[in-house]
Amino acid sequence: MRFDDRSVVVTGGALGIGQAVSELLAARGAYVAILDWNESAGNETAEKIITAGGRAFFQKVDVSDFENVNRAVENAGKVFGKLNALVVSAGIQRYGTAETTPEDQWNEVLDINLRGAWHASRAIIPYLKKQGGGSIVNVSSVQALASQQNVLAYTVSKHGLLGLTRSIAMDFARDNIRANALCPGTVDTPMLKWAASLDPDPQAVYDACSRMHPLGRIAQAREIAEVAAFLAHESSSFVTGAVWTVDGGLLTQIGGVPQTDAV
Ligand SMILES: NC(=O)c1ccc[n+]([C@@H]2O[C@H](COP(=O)([O-])OP(=O)(O)OC[C@H]3O[C@@H](n4cnc5c(N)ncnc54)[C@H](O)[C@@H]3O)[C@@H](O)[C@H]2O)c1
Repeated sequence: MRFDDRSVVVTGGALGIGQAVSELLAARGAYVAILDWNESAGNETAEKIITAGGRAFFQKVDVSDFENVNRAVENAGKVFGKLNALVVSAGIQRYGTAETTPEDQWNEVLDINLRGAWHASRAIIPYLKKQGGGSIVNVSSVQALASQQNVLAYTVSKHGLLGLTRSIAMDFARDNIRANALCPGTVDTPMLKWAASLDPDPQAVYDACSRMHPLGRIAQAREIAEVAAFLAHESSSFVTGAVWTVDGGLLTQIGGVPQTDAV
């Protein structure tokens, strides 16, 4: 699955799943615009791609600011001459219930995870239309389809991403613009490392997450990137408005019972 002569915008492309997507698409021939607010990691990822013979550039962007995102997408359009696909991976995790979540935390999570995804789509859709179509891939989460305790704002944002994806899929189908959501289980990224670091025994968090997935392990970011690449590519030309779980079987098991070797 090659991306020669294709240009792709990746939000959150500096680290984690977005980084894996940027590296994979660039290795397959794409021009990649990495939009992220982490300047050092963004530059490092772009340089790594270029050193490996790929084509990428980094732009510092806070996805919650539409003008910021729009300028960066415009710039990518100028540099590449056209834009073919968008992968939205910028996101944050915070903890709280309906009782304990402060207003500013709700706003922060929704502004980045949901409003940020809308901003990126809103900015790129005119370019995709000009190209006669394209693909938008929103990285949501299994927490768009089920939930855990103490993650109110995150879960709401990830459920919302499915609505955003489906709305875009409907509104722009006749422009040949496809939009799909990807719902990963637990993935080994800096976000997970941060979440585990909040526990007195971070390794126990990794072990529990591994046991929770029927495949008996968590995902590597590359495994999520492979599915994002398929959805971003014309190979998935009849897939739109879809929700793809990439969760090692997590949502398939009854009752969420952890797997043991004894069963
Ligand atoms: N890691 C997991 O287990 C997991 C599971 C399911 C879904 N997800 C989702 O996948 C996406 C990527 O997660 P990850 O694990 O790679 O996270 P990560 O923290 O490792 O990487 C996220 C990237 O987004 C960037 N970012 C965050 N806020 C931003 C903002 N306001 N503007 C621009 N860039 C911003 C960060 O700088 C970072 O480069 C997120 O939306 C996350 O919710 C992750």
